Amino acid sequence: MADTSFQPDVIVIGSGAAGLLCAIELSKSLQVCLLTKNCIRESNTKYAQGGIAAVMKLDDDYEQHIKDTLVAGDNLCALDAVKLLVHEAPARIRELINLGIEFDKDKDNLLQFTREGGHSSRRILHVGDLTGLAIEESLVNSVMTNSRIDVRENVLVKDLLVEQGYCCGVIFRSEQGQYLTLRAKAIVLATGGAGQLFSHTTNPSIATGDGVAMAHRIGANIVNMEFIQFHPTAFHKPPAPYFLISEAVRGEGGILVNHKGERFMKKYHRLKELAPRDIVARAIFQEMADEKKDSVFLDIAFKDAHYLQKRFPTIYNRCLEYGLDITNEPVPVSPAAHYFCGGVKTNIDGLTNIPGLYAIGEVACTGVHGANRLASNSLLESVVFAYRAAVHIDCWLRFGPGPRLSPENALNGPNTKTSPKTPIKTGMNKREIEKRITKIQQIMWEYAGIIRSHAGIQKALNALKRIEKQVAELSPDPLSVFEIEARNLITVAKLVLLAARRRTFNAGTHYNLDLVTHTSELADLDETDPFQLEDPSGEPSSLYRPVH
Ligand code: FAD
Ligand code: SIN
Repeated sequence: MADTSFQPDVIVIGSGAAGLLCAIELSKSLQVCLLTKNCIRESNTKYAQGGIAAVMKLDDDYEQHIKDTLVAGDNLCALDAVKLLVHEAPARIRELINLGIEFDKDKDNLLQFTREGGHSSRRILHVGDLTGLAIEESLVNSVMTNSRIDVRENVLVKDLLVEQGYCCGVIFRSEQGQYLTLRAKAIVLATGGAGQLFSHTTNPSIATGDGVAMAHRIGANIVNMEFIQFHPTAFHKPPAPYFLISEAVRGEGGILVNHKGERFMKKYHRLKELAPRDIVARAIFQEMADEKKDSVFLDIAFKDAHYLQKRFPTIYNRCLEYGLDITNEPVPVSPAAHYFCGGVKTNIDGLTNIPGLYAIGEVACTGVHGANRLASNSLLESVVFAYRAAVHIDCWLRFGPGPRLSPENALNGPNTKTSPKTPIKTGMNKREIEKRITKIQQIMWEYAGIIRSHAGIQKALNALKRIEKQVAELSPDPLSVFEIEARNLITVAKLVLLAARRRTFNAGTHYNLDLVTHTSELADLDETDPFQLEDPSGEPSSLYRPVH
């Protein structure tokens, strides 16, 4: 059945920073329909803590931010995209401020900047440790009061429609469980990441990789899927859930210690706790393995209690909920899956290889992150490329050729799929599928996690093949939301494992014990220590070769 209640020019899928900002920009000249599978606020964006990077001070410069991004990305970044990211940051920050976001300021009313791993300067704007929430709230308020944006919540997009080679619509599952089609002249994927692929993650439950799976099904190019960033410090105190302890805690002086109380990071990198994330995550993993423990500690308790409560209210309160006072004691932490550096390949305007289909934010791979993302570059990527995609779509639709389909075909073509409401299932299948998904998450953590091997990757692929067959048998059409997400997770898991199997050298977040490690030329050349930290000391780790 076609949804004819509204005829948008553009459909935006997802309501994180990327989708919301793109919709706002598009609405200046076009009619937009924004579809989102949960309530509008639910997204990875909402949970972002550390902040958003931008060169906004006289003692910082674009070249340095570009260099830091390339070094963190192990020199596998797309340089043109990185330059745009960095140069366009101040303009996008100004826009966020105009939309009402109040970044923290100092006593002189000047913007305050924090530091995170891999940055050679304090250049992270933040709103306490609630930066994502502040951005999400402002953008949602703007979208909800915009008459040119039709928002549909609790609507899960299942597939993308392609006709005559153009992406011209979506098939979605309505809140009532019906499958409907909606057509438009351009489709923007802003569906975020896939942290739910792993048993340990900082991501909320919506992060199931739907966008990558859908785009893959219609032949979009998917790249860099082996590069999954593991955040070094997630709260680890079972049975409490994993949640993020921001890198900004280390940026403000927090230190990592093992169970013997040793500050171990100096063994691994000259920047110690503020080394790029992949290096810190592997170092923690190594320490945990050496000590046969499942966590290390992040200690910031030596700082003033009042300061900590004010600077990190989310972390302070969340830890307190689980019986831990960060102003008094070190926080047990371990790495967790955090961010997908790869995704749907796009050009610098968010356009994919399928005409009519754009991808922005975490679902996209613009190439800015290379093999490992620099901290706080992701919110920035979301807003910079959301804006660029909106401008490109506007030009393409209003002044350019637009879709080459006839208007009848593009907007009122035959429905490709209709279905009655999903029948209520017994719940038996759901439980069985849930068990399989939990298994996949465990397999991915073990074999496609921080340290990989050829044999492990192959073992995971074999297991996945069996589980995929079982899930297909357990979930005949029409599918529930849970089943769609489960199938998408399986597709994305396969893409990650196949990409990991193809990679012939280690870089950034991808570390395979059976491969040699590529060390970026830039990292080798980078001999200056921006923070005048002491030289690394100690023996090289046995699991991997640290980069000094
Ligand atoms: P998201 O914000 O994840 O939004 C995706 C949207 O798509 C959601 O609304 C979702 O419901 C919707 N969706 C998904 N699938 C479908 C579907 N099939 N149909 C309809 N809707 C769908 N980055 C930084 O730069 N700085 C930070 O400080 C920072 N901190 C972070 C802290 C945490 C805990 C996490 C998890 C991430 C953090 N990141 C940070 C990363 C950053 O938040 C994300 O990469 C970024 O917000 C992604 O934005 P997005 O708009 O692409 O996706
Ligand atoms: C954090 O606050 O540590 C997360 C920052 C990021 O993912 O960029």
